[in-house]
Amino acid sequence: MSQQPQVLLPPPPPNETNDLHVKQPGRRLLPNIKVFWIRGYDPRFIQFKKAALYMGLGQKESGKSALLETVACRYPKIIDLWASRDNEGLAWCRSPFKNSVLFITGDNVDVKSQWDTKSVSELKLSDFEKYRVILSCSAFHSGVEAEFHAMNQIVLELYRRTHYEHLWFLMIREAANFIYSRLKISPNQTIAKADFLYLLREARHMGYPTGVDTLRWTGMDADARGIADYLFIKRVGITGLPKELHFLYAYINPSSFMGMNPRIFALVSSRGPLALGHFEYPWWHKEEKEDMLKLLDIKIEAGDVPDYGVQARNTMSDFEHIRLVGLYFEGNSMKKVAIILSRSPATVNTHIKEHNAEVAKTGCCSKCKRVRGMHQNTLLVKRGASLQRADKMSPSPGAELQDLEGKSGLDTL
Ligand SMILES: Nc1ncnc2c1ncn2[C@@H]1O[C@H](COP(=O)(O)OP(=O)(O)OP(=O)(O)O)[C@@H](O)[C@H]1O
Ligand SMILES: [Mg+2]
Ligand SMILES: [Zn+2]
Repeated sequence: MSQQPQVLLPPPPPNETNDLHVKQPGRRLLPNIKVFWIRGYDPRFIQFKKAALYMGLGQKESGKSALLETVACRYPKIIDLWASRDNEGLAWCRSPFKNSVLFITGDNVDVKSQWDTKSVSELKLSDFEKYRVILSCSAFHSGVEAEFHAMNQIVLELYRRTHYEHLWFLMIREAANFIYSRLKISPNQTIAKADFLYLLREARHMGYPTGVDTLRWTGMDADARGIADYLFIKRVGITGLPKELHFLYAYINPSSFMGMNPRIFALVSSRGPLALGHFEYPWWHKEEKEDMLKLLDIKIEAGDVPDYGVQARNTMSDFEHIRLVGLYFEGNSMKKVAIILSRSPATVNTHIKEHNAEVAKTGCCSKCKRVRGMHQNTLLVKRGASLQRADKMSPSPGAELQDLEGKSGLDTL
């Protein structure tokens, strides 16, 4: 941490100029990006005032993420969720925005660091308002499944944005990761891809400029490619450009694309103009061998892995269980809870009984505990009857529970 450069928050991005140089003594706060138009001219590109969709194509290590960060940092807010497995997004913690970063973590993971955290199930759209960078990375989840589950929860929250004042930049460092995460809640790949397309298409209406990187051009749905406002083309190696971009060879030598330096990119605007560009390396970007957790002194403790339920069998996840418990605790009848959750009253009854039995026996419901449910120690009793905490009960809570049930403390179906 001590090696981090002391920097102030950056000035608002400049506009109306083709040179995005931010004048600072010594090192520039934001990396410079410059474009030279070789066909037509698109002044909108450098304004960064629109919720545009940027798509990056290039081989591994061709500088896609570095370019995405260079664009992202010109918007008022950065949401970096679909990162690679190496916790690359944590590099924002040593960027000019390091004093305003929020970590989104899995519900059963404790992250100890100097930065604020919010667990996925507590996250509200309003939390995004308060920070310059909101990020999540693989290390903050207890496994791939947990991470994908969390990503879907976050997308649901982001979809709640119906009007906006400021643009929030969504970074999708690998398109395939988004599609995999949607596969967890979609019956098949076609629907997962359609979901991805939906997000890309709707993002602009919700005020989210979006940057998506992909290694494989053909892995991206043709429709998704078609709605990009800007394509960044980086080094493509011996496979060359995909057929539909062959027209670029009339402007740029094929061998230039094959071995392009990471700081160079070709830019295609959906309106027709073409440019060649170069950008400075974002000085905070993660280098291949760096261990970001160690460098930033971030400690992680993972609890038990939550039960995410099996969609095909319609089993109840721990998250639905805590919702059920919460609804019953608030005084809803079992029938009402069943209607709200689209479950049978018998299922609701079983869950409440199991919850109570475990609280009575051990003082804590394990389902609730796995996802940090606030009623993990609470015995649930019928509406009107007073609710009691297991920790405040007599030495033999089991006996007390039986009493409650004997007096039909539990709501009946
Ligand atoms: N503007 C630049 N100037 C100089 N070097 C750069 C620049 N951008 C990237 N690089 C070099 O390229 C390396 C890879 O960059 P980056 O992580 O952005 O690639 P990537 O295409 O996202 O890779 P991956 O496919 O593995 O995600 C960097 O570590 C850096 O060494
Ligand atoms: Mg990358
Ligand atoms: Zn419970």
